[in-house]
Amino acid sequence: MKYDFTSILDRHGKDAIAVDAIGSGEGMAPGAPKEGFDAIPMWVADMNFPTVPTVQEAIIERVQHPAFGYFSLPDAYFSSIIRWQETRNHVTGLTRECIGYENGVLGGVIAAVSSFATPGDAVLLHSPTYIGFTGCLTNNGFKIIHSPLVKDENGIWRMDYADMDAKLKANHIHVAVFCSPHNPCGRVWERWEIEKAMEIYKANDCIVISDEIWSDLTLDGHQHIPTQSVSEDARHRTLAFYAPSKTFNLAGLVGSYHIVYDSYLRDRLQSKSSKAVYNETNVLSVHALIGAYRAEGYQWVDELRQVLSENVRFACETIWSQFEGIEVSRPQGTYMLFLDCEKWCLAHGKTMDELLKAGWDVGVGWQDGRPFHGTWSIRVNLALPFSRVEEAFRRLKEYVF
Ligand SMILES: Cc1ncc(COP(=O)(O)O)c(C=O)c1O
Repeated sequence: MKYDFTSILDRHGKDAIAVDAIGSGEGMAPGAPKEGFDAIPMWVADMNFPTVPTVQEAIIERVQHPAFGYFSLPDAYFSSIIRWQETRNHVTGLTRECIGYENGVLGGVIAAVSSFATPGDAVLLHSPTYIGFTGCLTNNGFKIIHSPLVKDENGIWRMDYADMDAKLKANHIHVAVFCSPHNPCGRVWERWEIEKAMEIYKANDCIVISDEIWSDLTLDGHQHIPTQSVSEDARHRTLAFYAPSKTFNLAGLVGSYHIVYDSYLRDRLQSKSSKAVYNETNVLSVHALIGAYRAEGYQWVDELRQVLSENVRFACETIWSQFEGIEVSRPQGTYMLFLDCEKWCLAHGKTMDELLKAGWDVGVGWQDGRPFHGTWSIRVNLALPFSRVEEAFRRLKEYVF
C-alpha cells in the first residue's frame, strides 16, 4: 500500500471528540476505561487514519497566501466534483449549475426537508435510523414515520416496500429521507432495490432527499448506485447530498454539496438555504475538497476500502464464530457494524447498559445503538488500524463475551 493505514494516530488534544470525549459523560460518549486499559475509539463516525496528504497540501498552499476575503467557489471546485462523480459513481451529464455547496450534509438534508414540508408534517425514514436525522427532524418539528428494514433469509437488511407504500398513504407523506449506503445497517442498495423504492415514491408523489454521504465507502467490490441514476423520474424527484467528509476524515472542516438536476427542486432548496443565512462556504474547506479529489485521493480511497473490508471481514467472522448470541449482518458499505445483542443479553441475564459498560470498562469505546432505533443494538466503528480492531476484539472475547 502507498498510504499509511497501520500507524496508530495520537489524536489526543487535537480537536477529536472520538478520543477526548471518552469518559466525559457528554452526549453519547463511551464511559472511561478502568485502569490498565487504554481507550479504543469505536463510536462517533470519523476515522482514526490520517487523511490523504493532498488535503493538507491544498490547505497549506492556500494558507500561504495572506488574505482570506470574500470569494466565489472556484472552477476547480465544480470540475473536481464532476470528475469524482463521473469516475466513482458513473454519473453522466452533471453540470455545475446542478451542484451547490452545503454546510454539512445534515444541514442540507434539513434545508431540503423544510423546503417541501412544514413543521408538523410527517416524513418517511427507514429504521434503524442515523441519529442525526432523528435529532434534526424532531427538533425542527417534523413527525418521523419509520418504515422498518427487515432482514431476509440470508440476514441481509431489505426495505419493506408494502410497508413504505402503506405508510406514505396513511400519513399523507410527500417527503422521504433515503440513506444510501445505509447508516447504521451498512447496506449498499442494489439498483433493483432503489428502482422499486423510487416507483413507490413516484406513485405517492413523494420527493426524495437522498443522503449519499457514505457513497465512497463501499466494501468488497460493492458499487454505489446514485438514486438519481435509476430513472428519469428519479433524476427529477431527488435531491442528493454528498461530501468528502466521511470519505477523507474531514468532518471538522465542514463542507458538503448537493446535486439537484430539477430546476424547481433546486430553486426551492436555494430559496430556503439563502434565507437561513447559514449556508456560507469556508475557503479552507473548499481547498480541502479540491485536494481530496486530486488523483492521489482516488488511490487513497481504494486502499482505504481494502483496509475497511478486511477489518469488517475479521470482525464479522470473529463474531459469527466466537460470540454466540451476538448477531450481525455483514456491512457492504460504511465502516459500521450494527450488532444485535438480544439473544446474548437474554441468555446471560444482562441489560444493554451492563453490556455496553462491560466493553467500555476494558477500553472498547463502542456506541449505544438504541438511539438509532435498534432496541438491542450496539454500533461499532471499525475505521482504525487493523491492530487496534484485533485488540478490541481480543478484549471483547476475553472480558465481555
Ligand atoms: C448518514 C449521515 N448523514 C449525515 C452525516 C453528517 O454529515 P455532516 O457532518 O456533513 O452534517 C452523517 C454522519 O455520520 C451520516 O452518517
